[in-house]
Amino acid sequence: MCGIVGYVGHSNATGIIIEGLKKLEYRGYDSSGIALCTKEKELIVRKKKGRIANLEELIGDENLYGNLGIGHTRWATHGAPSDVNAHPHTDASGRIAVVHNGIIENYQILREELENEHGIQFKSESDTEVIAQLIGLYYDGDLEEAVFKATERMRGAYGIGVICVNEPDRMVAVRKDSPLIVGLGKGCNFIASDIPALLKHVRQIYLIENNEMVVLNANEVKIYNGDRQPVSREVFNVNWEDEAAEKGGYDHFMLKEIHEQPQVIKDTLAGRIDENGEIAIDSIHMSKEEIESFNRIYIVACGTAYHAGLVGKFAIEKLAGVGVEVDVASEFRYRDPFIDEKTLFIAISQSGETLDTLAALREAKAKGARIMSIVNVVGSSVARESDDVLYTWAGPEIAVASTKAYTTQLICMYLLGLYMGRKKGVIADDVYRRYVDELEAAPDRIREILKGEKHIETLARKLYRRNNVFFIGRGYDAAVSYEASLKLKEISYINSFATAAGELKHGTIALIEQDTLVIAIATQQRLFEKMLSNIQEVKTRGAYVLGIAKADSTEMDQQAEDVIYIPQCMDEVSPLLSIVPLQILAYYIAKLRGCDIDKPKNLAKSVTVE
Ligand code: AGP
Repeated sequence: MCGIVGYVGHSNATGIIIEGLKKLEYRGYDSSGIALCTKEKELIVRKKKGRIANLEELIGDENLYGNLGIGHTRWATHGAPSDVNAHPHTDASGRIAVVHNGIIENYQILREELENEHGIQFKSESDTEVIAQLIGLYYDGDLEEAVFKATERMRGAYGIGVICVNEPDRMVAVRKDSPLIVGLGKGCNFIASDIPALLKHVRQIYLIENNEMVVLNANEVKIYNGDRQPVSREVFNVNWEDEAAEKGGYDHFMLKEIHEQPQVIKDTLAGRIDENGEIAIDSIHMSKEEIESFNRIYIVACGTAYHAGLVGKFAIEKLAGVGVEVDVASEFRYRDPFIDEKTLFIAISQSGETLDTLAALREAKAKGARIMSIVNVVGSSVARESDDVLYTWAGPEIAVASTKAYTTQLICMYLLGLYMGRKKGVIADDVYRRYVDELEAAPDRIREILKGEKHIETLARKLYRRNNVFFIGRGYDAAVSYEASLKLKEISYINSFATAAGELKHGTIALIEQDTLVIAIATQQRLFEKMLSNIQEVKTRGAYVLGIAKADSTEMDQQAEDVIYIPQCMDEVSPLLSIVPLQILAYYIAKLRGCDIDKPKNLAKSVTVE
């Protein structure tokens, strides 16, 4: 959580940092702030509770100027969102300013030591102030040295940017378990938590590794490892367009990203199916023998990525003929799962920085599992710590609610199942070809669904005042129900609940009453009649049913009050299609309820705390 940006160069840092923060607001948005060093060796700090717009309002016409600065947008952990808890935090002397993304786990012990033994008075409740005070305590004319000494005392996760008025030409940054990149400009250099913050200025970046420290001035960037030895780093060239991180005429990033799905699915498939229709995945290096040796596969992820894993389980079990367990990452690492060298661990993560997922990955790695990941952000921690990576080429996903990342994760799950099954020789040729054809047809079919956006908006007008919504489905449709329910609740704040349709009668049905909205996903031919029975069960208790069905399912018309049809497709790949109208429905319901769609309350895009 939280986003940091820093600039050192010859221009005024103020606008550059604020623009960069706006691109990182998805990481947290309960307060923001900026610190600048002036040539006159003055430290200017401005910070404000609320959105970055509030910070801009605070600055107003003030002509803030400095060639060195750091900024922060916060997702609160220690200390409520407030002006005083906002970053940057400064040391007792007011010479040093720090921005921080992460959590200092031993902050309480350090704080007591600083207060009791050094008489330092704290201004805020934030764990980050401990960092600023520690650096201030150790500062003896060399910022690099002081930061190093402070980090030796700190436990937890941190990406930090530090400036000091006595050294108005340089910045120090450190990364431990929180993302940090360096942008390489001409006569200027940058730090940031993520690429979109820097796209306007640079295309060349360094990906900073764990425990590394960076010292930057306008012309030079030096990277040191944890033993303070200089390290060289390859330049990473970013090929995203600046517009990829802009709204491009849409009201919200979420809607734009929903509409991008046909293209990004195409991009994710591109190069992975060769001209003969064979799966060719360069980034996975597993022999037939290795694949055959796996006796256990875990898919581990959080939130939407976990829901993609639920579909992945079906796909891999069916296509590769091996049992798969799917786990929520925060549970997996503490349940002492059985793992050995015959285990394949698959992490799914859009950001590649989700701490729960990363910690589960490390646990599995330490016990000898082979680590594979499905990740969107290139060079992210999950990707770097994996043996094999299958990237989702979804481009930057800015809206907190995940949409295009989910559908490209599904594509990767199918590709992986086909890859493993093909290598093992357990998929019949005709079945294999059919899957490949179906995956390749998905972009056009999603385009068809997007043409029905107006109809879905009309339905949203009918339904947006509901306070409770239930999603039901069976098989693949149950997996989609969980994702559709999460989408609706996280952006509209409607209490929504998903359950396997067959489970309804074991408890949840007690909540169904006159006019309760039940969204029934029924795309699986072999389970269709069972779904119709479940629909009958809720209708008998007064439910208002919205059905999601394939184009030829005319029975649905007779059962449900409203129906959204999706194009014909093979049952096994229907999640790629059935989620799309439900993303759109969630979007319009949230819009009609006046919600802040791209930045829902209490959430952040990248969850780098436990
Ligand atoms: C869903 O819309 C959320 N953005 C959230 O559930 C997300 O999928 C989860 O936090 C995992 O994030 P990751 O994919 O970046 O690891």
